[in-house]
Amino acid sequence: TEKIVLDCDPGHDDAIALLLAHGDPRIELLAVTTVVGNQTLDKVTRNALSVATLAGITGVPFAAGADRPLLREIAVAADIHGETGLDGPELPAPAFAAVDTHAVDLIVETVLAHEPGTVTLVPTGGLTNIALAARRAPEIVGRVKRVVLMGGGVAVGNRTPVAEFNIAIDPEAAAIVFEAGWEVVMVGLDLTHQALAGPEVRRAIRAVGTGPARFVDELLDFFAATYRDVQGFDAPPVHDPCAVAHVIDPTIVRALPMPIVVETAGRHTTGMTVADRRGPAPQGCRTHAALELDHTRFWELVVDALRTIGDP
Ligand code: BDR
Ligand code: CA
Repeated sequence: TEKIVLDCDPGHDDAIALLLAHGDPRIELLAVTTVVGNQTLDKVTRNALSVATLAGITGVPFAAGADRPLLREIAVAADIHGETGLDGPELPAPAFAAVDTHAVDLIVETVLAHEPGTVTLVPTGGLTNIALAARRAPEIVGRVKRVVLMGGGVAVGNRTPVAEFNIAIDPEAAAIVFEAGWEVVMVGLDLTHQALAGPEVRRAIRAVGTGPARFVDELLDFFAATYRDVQGFDAPPVHDPCAVAHVIDPTIVRALPMPIVVETAGRHTTGMTVADRRGPAPQGCRTHAALELDHTRFWELVVDALRTIGDP
């Protein structure tokens, strides 16, 4: 199994990433940390705890982290995720609370508590917590197995023409994470815009027939509507579980090595992930971009995870 720390800002697709991480037997979820992003920190933390409650996740520490980006003002995504950050379905009140530890400390402690090269960090929000952890305890950089993040894109943005939301809301943090020297897999929009939840996918999810599956169906109703109205998509791209899927099976979310840096000082390009595709990646290149999705097998993973979770 792959040990992961999920750092998230639920968030419709973050919620599905959490369900996939919990339901897939190949993932061992060590900790869940939250970061300001789709909504304010208190809202996304509550959402994470509510999703854990409805999915029956127990024995995993949840910790709240950064309540603002390193340098920039908070910029939430209420247009996509609503006022609560998880508009649409009704959420149960959390059955448990976040631990007293700050997310950054929990990330550091978790990495140090396991063998070097065994813990993968999976950020699906802005990179504030991960950057702070790398600064707070630089020794984790050499111990983390990989950072498999949802964010960025080689050839496409959403927040701006060239910048994706998770990178755009805290580009300085993203620059720290991409340049730290650990292995980074960027599961960006090139990949996640292939992870569309079309009618067939929706039918397969409904057919599971459990409470958590109904919850995902209702999440996707809301997400589909905002993605249609705001971004002009026929079906919503379900970004965040793609990062978890890469950890589960890299043949489902396929990545190639290429140098990637983050623009922090552009007039029109701040938050852009600048990927060098001019030739074969240089020897020892530590950054990768996911470009190719096996759509059928990806959604099978999600549906199988929901079946495994059942009705807790
Ligand atoms: C990313 O931004 C957020 O709105 C989603 O949860 C996802 O992590 C997509 O750009
Ligand atoms: Ca997210």
